Amino acid sequence: MRAIAYSVTGGADVLRLVDRPVPDVGDNEVRVRIIASGVNPTDWKARTGVTPGEVLDAPRVPNQDGAGVIDAVGPGVTGLEVGDRVWVWDAAWQRTEGTAQELVTLPARQVVPLPPSASFDTGASLGIPALTAHLALTSHEATPMQLAKGSLAGRTVLVAGGAGAVGHAAIQLAVWAGASVVATVSSPEKAEYASRAGAHQVVNYRTHHVASELRAYAPEGVDIIVEVNPSANLATDLEVVATNGSIAIFASTTFGAEDPEILNVPVRVGMSKNMRLQFILTYMATPDRKDAAVRGVSAALADGALPVGSEHGLPLHRFPLEEMAAAHRASEKGVVGKVLVDVATPEQ
Ligand SMILES: NC(=O)c1ccc[n+]([C@@H]2O[C@H](COP(=O)([O-])OP(=O)(O)OC[C@H]3O[C@@H](n4cnc5c(N)ncnc54)[C@H](OP(=O)(O)O)[C@@H]3O)[C@@H](O)[C@H]2O)c1
Repeated sequence: MRAIAYSVTGGADVLRLVDRPVPDVGDNEVRVRIIASGVNPTDWKARTGVTPGEVLDAPRVPNQDGAGVIDAVGPGVTGLEVGDRVWVWDAAWQRTEGTAQELVTLPARQVVPLPPSASFDTGASLGIPALTAHLALTSHEATPMQLAKGSLAGRTVLVAGGAGAVGHAAIQLAVWAGASVVATVSSPEKAEYASRAGAHQVVNYRTHHVASELRAYAPEGVDIIVEVNPSANLATDLEVVATNGSIAIFASTTFGAEDPEILNVPVRVGMSKNMRLQFILTYMATPDRKDAAVRGVSAALADGALPVGSEHGLPLHRFPLEEMAAAHRASEKGVVGKVLVDVATPEQ
């Protein structure tokens, strides 16, 4: 079968199209014929490595996210059958086998049914962005651990970088859950995408004062903040966050050796609001929270609340499998929208 793999960390040119044997299916495992593989920043960051040029002990197939059709089911698997349409999450986390290949074998827990109404494109866009967004929206004990339709009614959510993949998913999930959603963006084009995703209010932080806009929109403060750029935004977040509110930080806007610090948090301000400052790495979420996120995202998906595509605020940028390097470069350059790789056609 065809696969993309790399044996040494570094730039996108380390990615090679290779021929690999079809993987076996073990106990409690499922083999998925991948139709679409999703590319996220984590994929090219892993490929680059902490030290570019490091020779790996075994070749790695990149990409955490994907969607396809179940091809084989191992002993002990229940609730999943050959032929089921599915999406997968964290495929390459601490494993050599990501979704950039025609067939991938995964623990059954990481293979989730895709409802008939959801496209493979949608399925391949979910894993990293939507699960991270769910974790960010549910980090405080004052919020439900699992989102449901209407479960955030009466809350205000602020999504920083609302045209990013995580930001897009956060807007969609929060709107579905009944929150009032404000997004910040850096351009009119991104403002349009955040609106299409469903944000009720969009603030261009380059042309408007975010705290003033938020005070007018939500005088009692913002209950949940989904934060992509804490270095730039934390002071504003602390100003606008409500009592029992949360600021969930899911990104460092630098990559490599530099680790930005944001520790100038006024203790009494945070304490008096019983405020949660939560750092999130989707891979490290406890299994109960991750499973709750998968269930919450699945419920939103079943309700048709997570569509992708330009008309829904997330333009798609497609590449064939053999152009994985170009797909990684597009994500690395920060293309607006979702990078998808076509691995096979649904009929194959
Ligand atoms: N912790 C986790 O588990 C987790 C999960 C997923 C992603 N991430 C990380 O989160 C970040 C965003 O991921 P994504 O998939 O949403 O990416 P994306 O689709 O490329 O979106 C990134 C968005 O972040 C905003 N941004 C703010 N400051 C930025 C900066 N200095 N450089 C680049 N973008 C900046 C931009 O919005 P504006 O131009 O409107 O500001 C942009 O639209 C990445 O660093 C990724 O590695 C972490």
